[in-house]
Amino acid sequence: MAENNSNTLMEKVISLSKQRGFVFQSSEIYGGLKSAYDYGPLGVELKRNIMNEWWRSMVHEREDVIGIDASIIMHTKVWHASGHLAGFSDPLVDCLISKERFRADKAPRPTPGDELPIECADKGQAKAYLAAIQKRFNIELKRNGKTLYGMKVIDENTMGFFPNGGNKPAETFPYRGYVSPTFGSPFLSDERQFNLMFRSQIGPIDVLGDITAYVEKNKELDGKELRTGIEEIVKKSAVYLRPETAQAMFVQFLNCQQSMSMKVPFGIAQMGKSFRNEVTVEHFIFRSCEFEQMEMEFFVEPGSQKEWLDYWRDRRMEWWQNLANDPKKFRYRAHETDELAHYADACYDIEYEYPWGFDELEGVASRTDYDLKKHAEHSGTKLSYFDQQKQDPETGKNGWRYTPFVIEPAAGVTRGLLVYLLDAYHEETVPNADGEDSSRVVMKLHPRLAPIKVAVLPLVKKEGLPEIAREMVSGFFKAGINARYDEQHSIGKRYRRHDEAGTPYCITIDGQTNEDGTVTIRDRDTMKQERISKDEALQVVQSRLIES
Ligand code: GAP
Repeated sequence: MAENNSNTLMEKVISLSKQRGFVFQSSEIYGGLKSAYDYGPLGVELKRNIMNEWWRSMVHEREDVIGIDASIIMHTKVWHASGHLAGFSDPLVDCLISKERFRADKAPRPTPGDELPIECADKGQAKAYLAAIQKRFNIELKRNGKTLYGMKVIDENTMGFFPNGGNKPAETFPYRGYVSPTFGSPFLSDERQFNLMFRSQIGPIDVLGDITAYVEKNKELDGKELRTGIEEIVKKSAVYLRPETAQAMFVQFLNCQQSMSMKVPFGIAQMGKSFRNEVTVEHFIFRSCEFEQMEMEFFVEPGSQKEWLDYWRDRRMEWWQNLANDPKKFRYRAHETDELAHYADACYDIEYEYPWGFDELEGVASRTDYDLKKHAEHSGTKLSYFDQQKQDPETGKNGWRYTPFVIEPAAGVTRGLLVYLLDAYHEETVPNADGEDSSRVVMKLHPRLAPIKVAVLPLVKKEGLPEIAREMVSGFFKAGINARYDEQHSIGKRYRRHDEAGTPYCITIDGQTNEDGTVTIRDRDTMKQERISKDEALQVVQSRLIES
């Protein structure tokens, strides 16, 4: 799509998403809720089609994978065992000048000798920040337009104010090793941990009433003591919205394995909502607080994890690419050792080239035996597997009991939806009815993902054409194919509307239909029209969908 400027591609996709009913801002009439989105009439179909394709390839088409649908709210001990309550937190820092809040581990890191210019949005802001720095730190930086100068990194822990260049600082300050991402400000607060899990309270206990009573009874306590007491009250009924779907598969490992007599290697898959109090919500639906995941935990024999990691990385990559127009926009990247999550011994990210560059779409992690062991330890239930056919490598005896290792392909549904919208968006110059150049926007969604598979369009609203069209639509519905009857506006406008909706086939009922029982079928991508018998329309669409 050479004609698309990548900076505006995102804006075009966001705008089309709203106009055509793929994605809306949540609670828009009340000004919207930050980072919350609603999937509209076409978006809900696209999302379900992505999920159905995933379920088909991961569960239905495999003998070695079974599915579950677990609660979003799980026992709080699950999150203690998994480490989420202790470790699912990011170090957060505030810029003391701009008040920007950001993740310390993702911030730019100027090194000794580097200048530390503060880049403001405009001159007015630069003047305000200059005054704020002077007031707070008693130094007067230099201003050139919207940039403030004078600070430099001295060593890993120190920065200096160099009012007139040279090597000798007029003042020194502690340096954190990084600056704020938007302004480049080195004037920062201490790092604070921030829990990414959404907390709520379960049960009939009026927690606010208990807290009020506690505070009234303990007026002599200082702030820290009061907080500890309040935390104890809150903890009693605290529950968390799951931040990943994965933990249910570990907790239900035995029930699933035993009820379905599964033999290792086997997997448990789940799709559903997850919630994270993300510090940075960004790029439309790329990172939001409420999102959907498609995850599978594949339990393998210890020692075979590397082989299975490569296997699942390749299968997942093929899946994404097969449903896309441009497979070159996908790549995978191995995690560096210092990037690995605490539970993983290796991990690949499947990345997509978004308008802002390559970024994560799915993680395929080798999660070791960490989770099963942790849940076994915290619950007191043995979460292991006994293989009668194998010899125990330590004792040499027949039969081997072990804790399986786990390979986890973990994908985002909503992030995948964004990827397929970006991949589908095409602007083309095509001849109009008079043979002149005209532009069209067409969403080249894979036919199996397309929200509407076929639109049935009576050319005019008379001569019995609507009745024929409606009967055809009901035939499609009976066959499980999502079709749409559409009689609004000119036929040209209807074709364009369905190009933007990504509808792969448009069937037009016209005057000739009454004469010889034929209709036209138009292909979204080539715009070619063929005449086929109206009685064969269902079969033609069915076979094209199967072949796609
Ligand atoms: N169980 C492992 C796990 O959850 P993750 O890398 O944190 O791993 C897996 O998440 C996938 O879920 C990501 O690759 C991404 O596609 C999606 N995801 C994670 N956080 C998200 C968010 N805040 N908004 C949208 N999608 C998100």
